[in-house]
Amino acid sequence: MPEASLRLFFALWPDAAVADRLAGEAREAAARHGGRPTRRDTIHLTLAFLGNVASSRLDAVKAAARSVTARPFGLTLDRLGYWHHNHLLWAGCAHPPDELAKLAGDLQKALAGAGFAPDGIGREFVPHVTLVRRVPDGMSTDTSGIAAVEWPCDEFVLAVSETGGEGSKYRLAGRFPLGDS
Ligand code: 2AM
Repeated sequence: MPEASLRLFFALWPDAAVADRLAGEAREAAARHGGRPTRRDTIHLTLAFLGNVASSRLDAVKAAARSVTARPFGLTLDRLGYWHHNHLLWAGCAHPPDELAKLAGDLQKALAGAGFAPDGIGREFVPHVTLVRRVPDGMSTDTSGIAAVEWPCDEFVLAVSETGGEGSKYRLAGRFPLGDS
């Protein structure tokens, strides 16, 4: 019998206040441009995407994540972006903090070192929070800014993506605090 696998990714997960603000932006943007707003409980910023991993390797994935050391940092989400190729409208940072790229890069390296193959390794990391999917063709590319959302980040999480009737559902399978070391 084939071994069970889990669809895994690492992400920053917002607290309730930040999730509320971003869900509001998502609903407003979808009302303006069309498309499907991200549900409040699924809003996140992906750091590393692993895809399908054998369930028996879950502990090794977590061990790789625990080996990463990074300091807490703050994100200011103050711009919108739109990708034509996948019809995604997203929120990002005009000036992403250096700690964010370092965290994503170190996590990808730790995973690769443990024998995993995170997608996008070696490509530029574009931090984004998907707000609206399936934005219809013809949307203006004038994606002016959003009222800045301040997001304090002091941990990252491991999420399992489970596809259900209403699209993807995410279950958190691990939390990894950012320390001062
Ligand atoms: P998206 O929001 O840009 O679609 C769960 O699917 C999360 O992993 C989403 O944030 C999704 O990004 C991201 N993701 C899905 N496939 C990916 C891939 N091949 N490479 C990087 N991130 C991916």
